[in-house]
Amino acid sequence: MASSIPPGAWYVRAPTHTGEASPFPSGQVGYLIRTAARAPSVHNTQPWRFKVSENAIELYADPRRKLRIDPAGREMLISCGAALFGLRLAIRSLGYQPNVDLLPDPAKLRLLARVRLRAGTPPTAFERRMLDAIPHRHTHRGPFADEPLPEGLLPALQHDALAEGATLTFIRPTVIYRQLADIVGPASHRQDLDPSARNEVRRWTRVTGSGARDGVPARAFPANGVTGDRQNARLRQRDFDLGRELGLLATGGPPAAATGVLITQADRRVDWLHAGQALHRLLLHAADRWVFASLYTQPLEAAAIRSLITTRLGLPGAPQMLLQFGRARTTLATPRREPDELMEL
Ligand SMILES: Cc1cc2nc3c(=O)[nH]c(=O)nc-3n(C[C@H](O)[C@H](O)[C@H](O)COP(=O)(O)O)c2cc1C
Repeated sequence: MASSIPPGAWYVRAPTHTGEASPFPSGQVGYLIRTAARAPSVHNTQPWRFKVSENAIELYADPRRKLRIDPAGREMLISCGAALFGLRLAIRSLGYQPNVDLLPDPAKLRLLARVRLRAGTPPTAFERRMLDAIPHRHTHRGPFADEPLPEGLLPALQHDALAEGATLTFIRPTVIYRQLADIVGPASHRQDLDPSARNEVRRWTRVTGSGARDGVPARAFPANGVTGDRQNARLRQRDFDLGRELGLLATGGPPAAATGVLITQADRRVDWLHAGQALHRLLLHAADRWVFASLYTQPLEAAAIRSLITTRLGLPGAPQMLLQFGRARTTLATPRREPDELMEL
């Protein structure tokens, strides 16, 4: 497949440590945090907080929003990594260069990143397109359109992952896909029956008309879950409905156009932050072409299943997220909390 990556400075650049720090423009802090907070997060928990000083914005994890099914906080940190990418992109949109220190103070476990501003260049056309994609980027659990993906998109998404310190591997719709589906289906089903996981899903799903600004709204998931199948249609999705018939999303439709696994070489906190940045970047890139993804972490929440997936698929690292991509012509934004609710004091 030909790559659609144009030559030249195309991506958000890697953070550098040169030059004088610039003060944050005070009138733009709300914009920066609001943009960061559009990131995807597990169960839409939005487990992030921000501390703003004259010269830095610090990103903190908010463990009160950590899920019990995520004891190590892996999914919480992937979510926060995604918010960090949004913050970096927003900083670029103002013509600054984000200078990021990941995990800058080992004594402060919740402090995930310190971001300073350096003088920079105006955002590239591609950075602007990713920013424009933020409002319509969404986790797609409904049917995909029966259309091929834009040529060159998949290798370009692999470049995104690599540039952020992760790897995106695609699984061909062959026997390997069927093996994956055979693992994911029963594992997810078992977890859907787990009382503690069910309580958590109930806690983080929202009925129609709810004014909550977090959690997964009924219009974003189908009634009675999606059971998945073995033929590259859809992997079994996490059941947000749990038999309550709240979900409003249609199901069915043509197969997903591609199935991928986001991998990191190691499985430390810093790797989870890289995975989150990679995730948000490739999702925005895809959304720019009106390609969206279903996300699957449920089977990776059980250590035994995670290791089975790693071995069966011969993955060269730790799987952080399963994704299925397809085209869609509809979008569905989920709510977010306002910047003033996200401040670390
Ligand atoms: C670490 C992580 C894990 C996720 N796991 C799942 C999942 O297993 N199933 C699912 O349907 N969505 C999953 N999501 C997507 C979130 O539910 C979604 O990002 C959130 O509800 C906000 O919605 P949005 O992405 O449409 O903005 C995950 C997202 C992240 C960042």
